[in-house]
Amino acid sequence: MMNPRSNSAHPVNQSKFEFAIAILAAGKGTRLKSRHPKVLHQIAGKTLLGHVVAAASRIVPPENIFAIIGHEAELVREALQSTGIQFVLQQEQRGTGHALMMAQEALRGFSHVLVLSGDVPLIHPETIERVRDFHIASQAAMTILTAEPADPTGYGRVFRRRKDAKPTDEVDRIVEQKALRGSEGEQREINSGIYAFAVGPLYTHIDELTTDNPAGEFYLTDMAGVLGKAGNKVLALRAEDSSEVLGVNTRMELAELDAKLRAQKTRELMEAGITIFRPETCDIDADVEIGPDTVIEPFVQIIGQTKIGSDCRIRSYSVITNCEIGDNVLIRPGCMMEDSIVRDSAEIGPYSHLRPGSDIGEGAHVGNFVETKKTKIGTRSKANHLSYLGNALIGEGVNIGAGTITCNYDGVNKHETVIEDGVFVGSDSTLVAPVKIGKGSYIGAGSCITDEVPADALAVARSRQVNKPKWAAERRDKVKNAKKS
Ligand code: UD1
Ligand code: CA
Repeated sequence: MMNPRSNSAHPVNQSKFEFAIAILAAGKGTRLKSRHPKVLHQIAGKTLLGHVVAAASRIVPPENIFAIIGHEAELVREALQSTGIQFVLQQEQRGTGHALMMAQEALRGFSHVLVLSGDVPLIHPETIERVRDFHIASQAAMTILTAEPADPTGYGRVFRRRKDAKPTDEVDRIVEQKALRGSEGEQREINSGIYAFAVGPLYTHIDELTTDNPAGEFYLTDMAGVLGKAGNKVLALRAEDSSEVLGVNTRMELAELDAKLRAQKTRELMEAGITIFRPETCDIDADVEIGPDTVIEPFVQIIGQTKIGSDCRIRSYSVITNCEIGDNVLIRPGCMMEDSIVRDSAEIGPYSHLRPGSDIGEGAHVGNFVETKKTKIGTRSKANHLSYLGNALIGEGVNIGAGTITCNYDGVNKHETVIEDGVFVGSDSTLVAPVKIGKGSYIGAGSCITDEVPADALAVARSRQVNKPKWAAERRDKVKNAKKS
């Protein structure tokens, strides 16, 4: 390992594992006016920091990624724990420069560090690699990724050194928005907040940062001036696409970047052979997977880790969260589905509610106003109308009549209802769990089933009908006479 404080040459053919990635994620995000940490706000169904970590993980292994956390650090750590990255605590948030001061120990042993911002979530791994390769090839001490967005307001501006009145690759200084003076405000080239540093010179000079600025913070951006003055090479590299480096400081920007990512997602899906009508009305999260020839109608939301197969049709106004849907499935309008499985050729809806733990078998039908929870419905079984099926194990070829209810909850515990293959449950039956309905049996409509029904039996559990002849006519006469008198 190299001495992290050494300022020696950085050969081009360096192993990429000597690169660390530090992600600045300790800030409060005051401008969002939120009680929650800024980097945990979501776009396209994933936290801002989650997007940045995903990009970083394509370049270095997770143990070389250091998220610098501070504000609500435990919440941030918990949200990102499963990614396997490392965390550095910046207890007090005294600026982006201070954040890197706190990472000195963690970065010992690395020759270079790529610095990303937890609130710049659209960055592509290819662009980070471009910064890395340019930085190494040019043997710079600091490389700044810059851009020229349509509106530079709010960003730090990058001022390049000039030679023969022309700007060079070398950076003179970065000036924050609040500190811009006179014509400096006309400068269009902005600092993306993404940098590469040689670790040696960074920590040799980081203590030269001061808080002598409008915010009273240690600005990482001031390292450009500091390193330049000490005779180190500080370079700017312009991003090819300025929209990749847009930052999120306000709720407006959060919504804009969400829309951008979602538009990108639907475009990718359409390119992969999925039809999406009125894509601008559909919300499809970043991690969703969909197979070719599936058709998504307008105003559909597909959320979280949902996977949908091929040749499905998802009709309007359905909200599908963390579901696994097979091939050739029809979801009719207005369905809500969460943490559930729907197998090949099943039909759901309209207006079905599949709650967590539902497993709808191949070719099965779940119809309007049917709610399922922790329930498995077997192959080609049908529950077409107005039912609640909770904690139920339903076999193959079962018919659940309209209005059937499993009474699965006794006020304290949940109990299971088992309905075996080929059962016919008549309409408006209540099945009081725990209870088992044997294979091939029938349940008469309107029954309240409390005991096991043997296979192939008919169960009728309701009081007998009594007809009272002429009762209604006599009552009408009685009422009429009472009015006369
Ligand atoms: C920063 C840059 C600015 C650049 C912009 C790009 C500085 C001083 N300015 O401004 O030049 O154009 O990003 O988006 O760096 N953070 C910490 N610890 C702190 C303070 C901030 O980890 O003590 C984190 C924040 O959580 C955030 C990132 O650093 O993820 C950037 O901080 P922010 O306050 O958003 O800086 P900007 O004003 O956007
Ligand atoms: Ca920012």
